[in-house]
Amino acid sequence: MHVLITGGTGLIGTAVVAELLGHGHTVTGLARSDASARAVEAAGGTALRGSLADLDVVRGGADRADGVVHLAFANDFSSPEALAQAVAEETAALTTMGEALAGSDRPLVTVSGTPWVPGRLSTEADPLPTDGPVGGRGRTVNAILELASRGVRSSAVRLPRTVHNQGNGGFAGLLTTIARQTGVSGYPGDGTQRWPAVHALDAAVLFRLALESAPAGSAWHAVDDEGDSVRDIATVIGRRLGLPVESVPAETFGPLGPIFATDQPSSSAATRAGLGWEPTHPRLLTDLENLEP
Ligand SMILES: NC(=O)c1ccc[n+]([C@@H]2O[C@H](COP(=O)([O-])OP(=O)(O)OC[C@H]3O[C@@H](n4cnc5c(N)ncnc54)[C@H](OP(=O)(O)O)[C@@H]3O)[C@@H](O)[C@H]2O)c1
Repeated sequence: MHVLITGGTGLIGTAVVAELLGHGHTVTGLARSDASARAVEAAGGTALRGSLADLDVVRGGADRADGVVHLAFANDFSSPEALAQAVAEETAALTTMGEALAGSDRPLVTVSGTPWVPGRLSTEADPLPTDGPVGGRGRTVNAILELASRGVRSSAVRLPRTVHNQGNGGFAGLLTTIARQTGVSGYPGDGTQRWPAVHALDAAVLFRLALESAPAGSAWHAVDDEGDSVRDIATVIGRRLGLPVESVPAETFGPLGPIFATDQPSSSAATRAGLGWEPTHPRLLTDLENLEP
């Protein structure tokens, strides 16, 4: 299959590009800078110069592809306005790619996030949250899955809070960044809230499996660790960086504070059974041992 990928130069996208190329697919990667274009080409793909905001470029790329994997996101959590702008940009691009594939039965695999349900593991059958600071992303994913009724084999790979590689990435990566900035490895509340996690190389396999065979309108969980306590995560980070480990106010984490404070364990039992996905790479607390002071 010839695949258009957005976000193919990111922590997760790099792994997805390698996974696709390693299984006989060819890849065109949206690249918003010369450096990103060079990275796509060096990985073995073809660069498509443009950003998510260049809707004509994105539409043309989807028109020419046998399938699309969408991962790009500005990841700007610096203010509520910046986050809203990132969500709006992603929505426009994803909607454009979905419309380009309508009536073709071609696959569109979009990134999403695992939901949270008080008191139990969330499952693939639970609905996405559609309010809160990133609720717009959930509404967009739901609209993409509804394109199943218009001849798009759309599916969503829901990622856990931390997708990691060499100890970097995701919410645990943000904890590490803030620890380096503040000199304290902090966690909100009592730190007993749990976050799910997966290694990027395992998540990449699930993106490929969804592209190749997920039924239209389906959602999958790329979850290996069902839930690590945030205090355990902060404890490894603090030890690796030589910093004290303490509870800190939720405001320390900006617009993500309420999400950081939420217990949100998740299951991938239906994904393992449905697509035969089995993670094999190190879990988060082991991978964090790769952090250097
Ligand atoms: N890592 C995690 O733990 C995690 C967890 C849950 C969900 N996710 C989601 O998974 C996706 C990928 O995450 P990641 O950790 O791999 O992110 P990342 O390392 O920050 O990579 C982001 C990717 O998106 C591209 N990008 C950003 N804004 C763009 C724009 N305006 N136009 C074109 N490309 C743009 C970047 O291109 P450049 O290389 O040019 O910067 C890069 O390829 C995101 O949607 C993220 O929200 C990640």
